[in-house]
Amino acid sequence: MPADPTSRSRSAQAHAASLGDPEAFWLEAANAIAWETAPVRAFDPQAGTYGRWFPDATLNACHNAVDRHVADGRGEQAAIHYDSPVTGTKRTITYRQLRDAVATLAAVLADLGVGRGDRVVIYMPMVPEAVFGMLACARLGAVHSVVFGGFAANELAIRITDAAPKVVLAASCGIEPSRIVAYKPLLDAAIAASTHKPEACLILQRPESEAILVEGRDRDWAQAVAEAEAAGRTAACVPVAATDPLYILYTSGTTGKPKGVVRDTGGYCVALAWSMPNLYDVAPGETYFCASDIGWVVGHSYIVYAPLLHGCTTVLYEGKPVGTPDAGALWRVVSEYGAVCLFTAPTALRAIKKDDPRAALVKDYDLSRFRSLFLAGERADPDSVAWAERALERPVIDHWWQTETGWAIAGNPLGLGLLPVKHGSACIPMPGYDLAVLDEAGKPVPPETMGTIALRLPLPPGCLPTLWGSDDRFRTSYLTTYPGWYDTSDAGVVDADGYVTVLGRTDDIINVAGHRLSTGGMEAVLASHQDVAECAVIGIRDALKGEQPCGFVVLKSGVERETDTIERELVALVRERIGPVAAFRLALTVQRLPKTRSGKILRGTMKRIADGEPWTTPPTIDDAAVLDEIGASLKGRGIGA
Ligand code: COA
Ligand code: AMP
Repeated sequence: MPADPTSRSRSAQAHAASLGDPEAFWLEAANAIAWETAPVRAFDPQAGTYGRWFPDATLNACHNAVDRHVADGRGEQAAIHYDSPVTGTKRTITYRQLRDAVATLAAVLADLGVGRGDRVVIYMPMVPEAVFGMLACARLGAVHSVVFGGFAANELAIRITDAAPKVVLAASCGIEPSRIVAYKPLLDAAIAASTHKPEACLILQRPESEAILVEGRDRDWAQAVAEAEAAGRTAACVPVAATDPLYILYTSGTTGKPKGVVRDTGGYCVALAWSMPNLYDVAPGETYFCASDIGWVVGHSYIVYAPLLHGCTTVLYEGKPVGTPDAGALWRVVSEYGAVCLFTAPTALRAIKKDDPRAALVKDYDLSRFRSLFLAGERADPDSVAWAERALERPVIDHWWQTETGWAIAGNPLGLGLLPVKHGSACIPMPGYDLAVLDEAGKPVPPETMGTIALRLPLPPGCLPTLWGSDDRFRTSYLTTYPGWYDTSDAGVVDADGYVTVLGRTDDIINVAGHRLSTGGMEAVLASHQDVAECAVIGIRDALKGEQPCGFVVLKSGVERETDTIERELVALVRERIGPVAAFRLALTVQRLPKTRSGKILRGTMKRIADGEPWTTPPTIDDAAVLDEIGASLKGRGIGA
């Protein structure tokens, strides 16, 4: 890939400036935002757990994402292209229409008692109303918490209990290519199971499967909006402190209990606004297409907030990279809306490559306005990157992020000039990230040496200031391993050019089709089965999804039921408790689990066996023969060497 010869210095300069004089760097970046009270200082090191960004400033995120663009003459520009191959629907919403829809919905929410600081859970598929809901919350200074539609009732219940929302916004159903997912029964079950009961639910009825409304609690979305419209009711943007939470997004932790990542308002808006021209090289008025889901952080940041903050047109795509109808779907959308940038997960690319290995479908579309493909969510395997480079003849850029950071930690800042692409690497740290690879003692290691990737505090704007309702869990999860640093729980290396390669998690999080899942959470579900004595879940290599979960179970002595039956029950149980997104399909009954003499299950060795990688018997193992038993049981399913 050709690199701009001046680019190295521009990227390096931006990074050095951000660390050398963060006040000047971020106050300059803050000029991209319309503040109610402009920041006079960028950072207060005394506030919060490690300091807070823009402590004196006030703003409204919805004003910045919507209203100000109408005032600035973008009213007739498309804000959202909704494209839904699963329903055969397309709809374009201008900035003016978006403002009106959001202002009306905000009035409906205000009537339901939602105000600044109140939480609103959003359990919706990729429909425009979900985006209206997020922005209506932002308009009121309320805190949204979107829950991905592929999670089951139990996961939704955990989030409702933790966030304690005043109102839930939901749709009657989501649509997967193979089936209609009725959301409302899941919502009802979640509310029944939750210790917190929302005061009201606003339900968007979709014709594919209408829901039965609970009297006294549920309101029909369309009717409530129509009534507010008829009465000419709208709600204005409420200025909030830059440090106020904009949203909570739950993500898998190492235990079964998800972490409520808190996103502040001001720092997030500033970081995202910086990223659009500098990282993605996108200008206001251009179309940006992020093929993720609003249930994930990537969707929050790059389907909703960043493109809209930057005055771009965003694409809301309710479909899959393959099968809706074919592997040309993403190219069709890029072409149809003239997207200049596409952001998706490597797993989507692998799915496309599998169905259309010669990339023949790319040629069916006019991609003349398309400039770059960005990948994140899991490691971008070099083969897929090379395949996409050949197919698209454009830069294909891997960048690394976490739900916690809200935007890229490392990437190739295209807007500052493309750096040479090294396949397998996520390139260099973004401004504000003071990144190092540490050894177990917390000491930075030399280049090319593997260790844990850590970020020196403070984290830059946009990153989480804490976990919802739990500064303590935030500290113990991220800040105590290496005092003065944020522990990413990702292992990696930095090379002599400063390029970061992320190799995988150091905890028991796995990444399945770009979805972050906790093996600890799955183990808790398996362990709850009446016949299971103990279990271990590991992520094993999968050509399409990157990893797939595999559960090993030891049955209680005396259990005489067929192991096949029990294994099927276990697969169903994970689907029922966590959801289809867990993609848990492999439960293997074994006689024993391999353990150290102190009783620790040797998950790492099990994974190497399953992945067909060379492995050695750990010297601390209690009984080495167990590893052969594991190998044999995997082989029985065609897994491992
Ligand atoms: N609501 C309900 N169920 C959902 C869902 C949603 N929003 N999203 C996925 N599911 C279901 C799927 O239907 C599937 O169910 P099944 O077991 O009945 O088949 C299950 O969850 C697993 O889904 P997934 O892992 O996504 O596999 P898939 O076979 O449906 O699709 C890909 C494979 C590669 C096309 C798909 O994983 C994909 O597009 N991934 C991109 C991931 C992504 O964008 N991540 C965000 C980070 S950038
Ligand atoms: P999530 O919080 O769901 O965005 O998942 C974050 C995790 O996904 C990270 O901690 C990494 O393990 C992994 N990840 C995300 N992007 C990348 C990438 N570009 N390269 C390698 N791993 C990635």
